[in-house]
Amino acid sequence: MIKLDVSRAKKFLTDEEFDQARDKASEALMTVKERNGKGAEWLGWRDLLSDPNDAILEQLHSMATKIRENADVFIVCGIGGSYLGARAVIDALASFFGNKGPEIIYAGHHMSGQYLEELLAYLEELTKDGEPKSVYCNVISKSGTTLETALSFRFIRSWMQDQYPDTLQDRIICTTSSVGGALNKLVDQYRFQKFVIPDDVGGRFSVLTPVGLLPIAVAGIDIRSLFYGAVSKYEELEEEAGSLLDYAAVKYALFKKGKAVDVITSFEPQLASLGGWLQQLLGESEGKGGEGMFPAVTTYSTDLHSLGQFIQDGARIVMETFITVGDSKGGLTVKEAEENNDGLNYLAGMTFHEINKRAFEGTIQAHVKGGVPSVVVNLDKLNAQHLGEFIYLYELFTAVYCYSLNVNPFNQPGVEDYKSEMYQLLGK
Ligand code: PA5
Repeated sequence: MIKLDVSRAKKFLTDEEFDQARDKASEALMTVKERNGKGAEWLGWRDLLSDPNDAILEQLHSMATKIRENADVFIVCGIGGSYLGARAVIDALASFFGNKGPEIIYAGHHMSGQYLEELLAYLEELTKDGEPKSVYCNVISKSGTTLETALSFRFIRSWMQDQYPDTLQDRIICTTSSVGGALNKLVDQYRFQKFVIPDDVGGRFSVLTPVGLLPIAVAGIDIRSLFYGAVSKYEELEEEAGSLLDYAAVKYALFKKGKAVDVITSFEPQLASLGGWLQQLLGESEGKGGEGMFPAVTTYSTDLHSLGQFIQDGARIVMETFITVGDSKGGLTVKEAEENNDGLNYLAGMTFHEINKRAFEGTIQAHVKGGVPSVVVNLDKLNAQHLGEFIYLYELFTAVYCYSLNVNPFNQPGVEDYKSEMYQLLGK
């Protein structure tokens, strides 16, 4: 279960400010449901959940099982919405060290030649057993033309062609649009396996399509639980979306009152990538035409020692979104030491989870006192089902909040600007 608590943000608003924003959020939700808003042709992320396709889930699961059995390394080659969702779920649920199954390596998400060179050299290294590595690659690009991804894939593909001339078609899986784009040409030429990104689902809303689900399944995560977690949230919010509307109203009203930065944070470091997914979902959706808060991702308590000063006491332009986990793993308990030289015996008997929880409580109290409106999004457990719920909750929240701002949540015209400048300089 996920609980939203906006009480520590709402108190920074007058009743009138909140009520007006709440009316806007209700209208915005109707706009989503009635499909009569800007970019309504991109609402396919809702249809995925209203009419689940179990056959695709099964197909992805069996492909992932085969890869898990045969691969030492699985490369996820994609950028933006084509990898952030998978990474968010994988990092949230994997162990910090020594995961079972293929090593998952991301590529195509920047333009570092050094990274790619070192990656190819790493692929050349033998396994612990002295065998050549068995490498699989999932290249993910809806347009099929994104430079970072396409260029990295050219190098990875060429290395794999040399390495596995007879099994290349089993080892490369392309996730792209149904037709068009350079990646589809490569699929036709080499007969690579292919999964389709539905035309009406944009990159940052695509984690519950093969874009996210194949890499997540290869990581050994139960994609059915993830997907059906999202389905259950969809059904719940179709019936009753009051707390989501309160949240959208609070964020909208705070923006109108001058809050320009939303610091998305968690005291669980494994949720840093989930923050990264949310950062893209919100940032690329709301940041248009001079509107929107800048979503900044932090990990506490680490970043309390770098950004804590600013958040507590700097320019009062910040709101904060805490993602908390009720029942987190990590059972280390502090023991009483005979000699209390480090002065830590006051913690004796407490688990790390309890100490971390006090750190969260102390931080939110201090920040709210310092003038930072704070929202808490609590997952009672960190598992696939609750992450599925979280994903849909934020997809719908993003659409509702952006429509309140009168912004099209589903396009990204500003991203095209850097591309056209860059392509000109590159002589495309
Ligand atoms: O949300 C989006 O649409 C973007 O972030 C894209 O996912 C990103 O630019 C990658 O695009 P593509 O999948 O076409 O390579």
